[in-house]
Amino acid sequence: MNNSPLRLTGLTKRYGGQTVVDAIDLTIAAGQCHGLLGPNGAGKTTTLRLALGLIEADAGQVELLGHIMPAESGLARARVGVVPQVDSLDPDFTVRENLLTYGRYFGLSRAKVEDRVPDLLDFAGLTGKGDASVTSLSGGMKRRLTLARALVNDPDLVILDEPTTGLDPQARHLVWQGLRRLIGKGKTLLLTTHFMDEAERLCDRISIIDRGRIIVEGSPRDLIRAHIEPQVVEVYGDTLADWRVCALDLCQRCESAGETLFCYTADPEPVIAELDKQPTLRYLHRPANLEDVFLKLTGRDLRD
Ligand SMILES: Nc1ncnc2c1ncn2[C@@H]1O[C@H](COP(=O)(O)OP(=O)(O)OP(=O)(O)O)[C@@H](O)[C@H]1O
Ligand SMILES: [Mg+2]
Repeated sequence: MNNSPLRLTGLTKRYGGQTVVDAIDLTIAAGQCHGLLGPNGAGKTTTLRLALGLIEADAGQVELLGHIMPAESGLARARVGVVPQVDSLDPDFTVRENLLTYGRYFGLSRAKVEDRVPDLLDFAGLTGKGDASVTSLSGGMKRRLTLARALVNDPDLVILDEPTTGLDPQARHLVWQGLRRLIGKGKTLLLTTHFMDEAERLCDRISIIDRGRIIVEGSPRDLIRAHIEPQVVEVYGDTLADWRVCALDLCQRCESAGETLFCYTADPEPVIAELDKQPTLRYLHRPANLEDVFLKLTGRDLRD
């Protein structure tokens, strides 16, 4: 891919004695949404900060929109939008002033940003809130303003670190719709998220990162096909411990997590037939999804 908006080669970052980004190779395709998924502490935010030239790598190379980072950060960042993991809005300003000031970092005239403000507010579902002070906004509204702010410079590449964390279901749908519109306009998105449904909906391609390394990469559908049995029966109930032995004979693979038993199989009928004879157990039958892949590949234990 010659015109890739972002290419990471052998990218490595160490903090103290710990290698938190470990020789990552990643090429993002133009016009696509690429998801970077991984457990807490996997190295996602550090990778994005390296890509943006905000921190310096110990080894490897970053090429952002054709510019070598961090040496050419200024040139590259003019065409990039960023949604950081933690909001960094100016609390002393109104919503509109936050957009105008941010536009100034890119050398945009006040008039030019003023022109864009209605569209940006619409994107964020904040129409009518232009004159509200940032301190009066709810957490979700601030998150949406951060998203709108990232688009001030009409970027070619938007890097979003957990963009929908803290948003209610309505707002998430609004943001998904907006992000899909951006892809439709030919923009490229690189996004991290802990919502597997979000990744499955939005991303053309996904890299799963664990302990600083990319462990798999592919489209959501291909990852599900390659790594997981197609059907899942989730079983709950008081007599689950006794029934577990029976389940092992009826499906290809079983996993326990908390009070749930996950039965993975290509043919759920025998499991369901058996469960229908168990009045003390409840179950949910569903197709396998990206979360199953994520948990299989990164484990079910908490990371930090
Ligand atoms: N400035 C820093 N100094 C020391 N260690 C750091 C620093 N920044 C990140 N780390 C460590 O690097 C590792 C990766 O952190 P990072 O923030 O990249 O993870 P993440 O994948 O974004 O996690 P999360 O899903 O929780 O946001 C963690 O172990 C973290 O503690
Ligand atoms: Mg992070």
